[in-house]
Amino acid sequence: MLKSSWKAPVYISSLPAVALRGFFPRRLVILGSTGSIGCSALAVLEGLEPELACQFPVLALAAGRNIELLARQANLHRPEFLAVQEESLIAPLRGLLAEGYRPEIFAGQSGYAALAGLEQAEMVLSAQVGAAGLRATLAAARAGKIVALANKESLVLAGGLIRSICAESGAVILPVDSEHNALFQLLMERMWPEPVKLLITASGGPFRGFSRKDLLKVTPEAALKHPNWNMGAKISIDSATLMNKGLEVIEAQQLYGLPPDQIEVTVHRQSLVHSLICFSDGSQLAQLGTPDMRMPIAHAMAWPRRMPSGVPALSLNDAQDLSFELPDLENFPCLGYACEAMRLGGGLPIILNAANEIAVEAFLQKRIGFMGIPELILAAMNEVASPPSCMEEDILELDKKTRSWCLDRLAKM
Ligand SMILES: NC(=O)c1ccc[n+]([C@@H]2O[C@H](COP(=O)([O-])OP(=O)(O)OC[C@H]3O[C@@H](n4cnc5c(N)ncnc54)[C@H](OP(=O)(O)O)[C@@H]3O)[C@@H](O)[C@H]2O)c1
Repeated sequence: MLKSSWKAPVYISSLPAVALRGFFPRRLVILGSTGSIGCSALAVLEGLEPELACQFPVLALAAGRNIELLARQANLHRPEFLAVQEESLIAPLRGLLAEGYRPEIFAGQSGYAALAGLEQAEMVLSAQVGAAGLRATLAAARAGKIVALANKESLVLAGGLIRSICAESGAVILPVDSEHNALFQLLMERMWPEPVKLLITASGGPFRGFSRKDLLKVTPEAALKHPNWNMGAKISIDSATLMNKGLEVIEAQQLYGLPPDQIEVTVHRQSLVHSLICFSDGSQLAQLGTPDMRMPIAHAMAWPRRMPSGVPALSLNDAQDLSFELPDLENFPCLGYACEAMRLGGGLPIILNAANEIAVEAFLQKRIGFMGIPELILAAMNEVASPPSCMEEDILELDKKTRSWCLDRLAKM
């Protein structure tokens, strides 16, 4: 008999129990509601027939600073709780709310964490951008929620910690990232024979095929124009450098527990195949769909059921050729750096992520060029000491230390 080397990650063992509990109606907390993912999630809800929509009451919405959009969303969905990035935004937000509507409003990281842990909530959509989403993701996991996770940085920074919290609290993570959601659909909804490889697809971003010389000239405006996906600024730049794929490789390792050498990336320009799993008998299973985040969001929201996402089914007859090729690691080294950080572990994924966030911001502000992004990340990975720790304080401390090291280096340039 074949012996399985694959151990389903601990939090996944809670999934059958969650599926049986049913959890409908499912009261939602949406963190990052004003972002690309948050808006798509609300679009899914707004497109549902009333008898289905009432199964997903919005209990809380959290924005960063965009209070105008948050107020419009809140006036429509009437959540009992709201949160914004700073205390000073609360009064102007109140001024934008409909007459007679008086939700409780929280502010800052502790406010987001309070929403994530609300007793009345069944599901938390974690869709803030960057390391700023970590504390709320941890709070949702500690409170035993179903966490629909878009904030991949949480797993890159603290995958081990999140897994151990979920094992204790009974929380589950349902991946929203389209590739990981595809893998989830492929792996979890069948009998779990051991996969030998996870194959994550990448569009290749807007600069696929560019030489180093071409890449030295690219502008933030060009980098923000992704060919297939409509996303927030940070993830669009991450897609252009292939760092997004690097973060996703680490995310997949944390979610699915396969050794690093069993997770691979293939460039698939059309973004119709979202990911594949490969088995020991040579067979491969793929998940396909139109590239639209409403689909994985609706999947996570309704799991283990299915509901309309508003996305039309993909017509394979209309699809162009499906092409697959190896990523260009020489001109897009960020993917290689992320794979190295995953292999070596310790604090390296935290350093990689923090340096990337600073570098992306500096590129958007035109302080460094496109190739300055991998340069800063490599320098930080070589220079910042990376003690291994799974403690929340140590993770946040290393994140802070790396950011200040990067800012110092940029100031000297
Ligand atoms: N977009 C996609 O297609 C996609 C796909 C897969 C995974 N993801 C992941 O999903 C997450 C969100 O991506 P996105 O594209 O939706 O980003 P986005 O459009 O930039 O939106 C980010 C959200 O986070 C809020 N925010 C920003 N900085 C914050 C801070 N310091 N504290 C609290 N909230 C803050 C923003 O609020 P304000 O705008 O109100 O300031 C906004 O609601 C990322 O982790 C990304 O990697 C995105």
